[in-house]
Amino acid sequence: MRHFIYFSKSAATSGNFTDLMKAGRMDIAIHVVIASFFLSHDFRKDAKLHLVFYGMPDPPKHIEIQVKDELEISKKDVGGLIKKILYKYKEGKKTEVLPGCFVEKKSLLKVAEELSEEGKEIFILDKKGEDIRNAKISDDCVFILGDHEGIPVKEMKRLKQIADPISVGPRVYFASQVVAVVNNELDRRGI
Ligand SMILES: C[S@@+](CC[C@H](N)C(=O)[O-])C[C@H]1O[C@@H](n2cnc3c(N)ncnc32)[C@H](O)[C@@H]1O
Repeated sequence: MRHFIYFSKSAATSGNFTDLMKAGRMDIAIHVVIASFFLSHDFRKDAKLHLVFYGMPDPPKHIEIQVKDELEISKKDVGGLIKKILYKYKEGKKTEVLPGCFVEKKSLLKVAEELSEEGKEIFILDKKGEDIRNAKISDDCVFILGDHEGIPVKEMKRLKQIADPISVGPRVYFASQVVAVVNNELDRRGI
């Protein structure tokens, strides 16, 4: 199973948003969801996406999505899916609000640390990291990436204690483009 953790300092943490740009660049999160799961006439069932949002009004929120047969998901309304998940948040517990979709209050570091404690190999997506084409990657891998502002310095320092920086190329790409490249690399390796 491949995991992606997308961090956004500004993405909204309640479901009552209408304008995606004003909801802390929810448009970027939506593109990341599409790049994580959507194939031509198919969905990836081998990927789990963790969206960690630190925007107002109730940060932090950790949304976990894995596409299951019973999940109704459309490229045309990923924003609606995120809204539904956030609306159904229940204080004090991790709730499965739709098939394969969970929401809870949890920080970026805690999400990453828990995956690391489960024995998964953690990478931080960073232009200056090791070239993904040369990197050894195990089957149970996690890739952390940021929004348009990247990962904050404080979090980055802590994450580097459990994660290795990995690069997908010499330019700074959109978060969703990075996810597409990683998915492609893992597909080619049969991971
Ligand atoms: C639009 S970029 C963020 C740009 C932000 N100004 C910064 O400097 O981090 C979004 C995310 O994509 C990832 N990223 C962008 N280019 C990359 C590259 N060449 N290799 C690996 N990750 C990359 C990083 O994780 C980054 O946080």
